[in-house]
Amino acid sequence: MKKKIGDQNVLYPTPVTVVAALVNGKVNFINVAHVGIVNAQAPHLISLGMNKAHHTNIGIRENGTFSVNVFSIDKMAEVDYVGLVSGSKTDKSAVFETFFGELKTAPIIRDCPLSMECRLHDTYETKTHDLFIGEITATYADESVLTGGKVDLAKVRPLLFDMSSRKYWSLGTPVGDCWGAGKNLIK
Ligand SMILES: Cc1cc2nc3c(=O)[nH]c(=O)nc-3n(C[C@H](O)[C@H](O)[C@H](O)COP(=O)(O)O)c2cc1C
Repeated sequence: MKKKIGDQNVLYPTPVTVVAALVNGKVNFINVAHVGIVNAQAPHLISLGMNKAHHTNIGIRENGTFSVNVFSIDKMAEVDYVGLVSGSKTDKSAVFETFFGELKTAPIIRDCPLSMECRLHDTYETKTHDLFIGEITATYADESVLTGGKVDLAKVRPLLFDMSSRKYWSLGTPVGDCWGAGKNLIK
């Protein structure tokens, strides 16, 4: 029997990302697990749910640019660290090495397999959070995570987040084809 467990959000796991932005001219990093995909066609839009109290929000608003970086499980400690301390009090600019792409003001992390350079498309506000909608203007992939030019999740080994257990998780194995597993049920 199904039991009611309150009003919990059970949309986990989510990928753990590190969002990088320039805040008052200095690189800052924040751990953001509440990320979403708005659409799968160009322009590619993604969303970030970020508490208004965070230092990074200032830079995203200031420049209208940021990057969203996907990490492998081996960088768990560094990724966790940038989610434990705020750039308002602690200089996190040296935690990861960065470079700048076409947007000029979005720091992009070198030491992770996948990065998306984004232009701020829109901001929705709730009482507590900024929901930043970013348009991906360029995606960077380490060659070591590509198979036949495509991102290979088995090689990325993305770090995943679960609120219920408050643990980082790793990925399992593929279990079936999307747009395929249900084909036999079509009448
Ligand atoms: C695993 C993990 C996931 C997090 N996910 C989010 C998130 O999705 N949204 C958010 O607003 N804060 C999130 N945080 C909290 C921020 O990363 C944290 O408060 C950070 O220190 C803020 O940095 P800043 O003030 O330099 O921007 C998360 C923290 C951790 C450790």
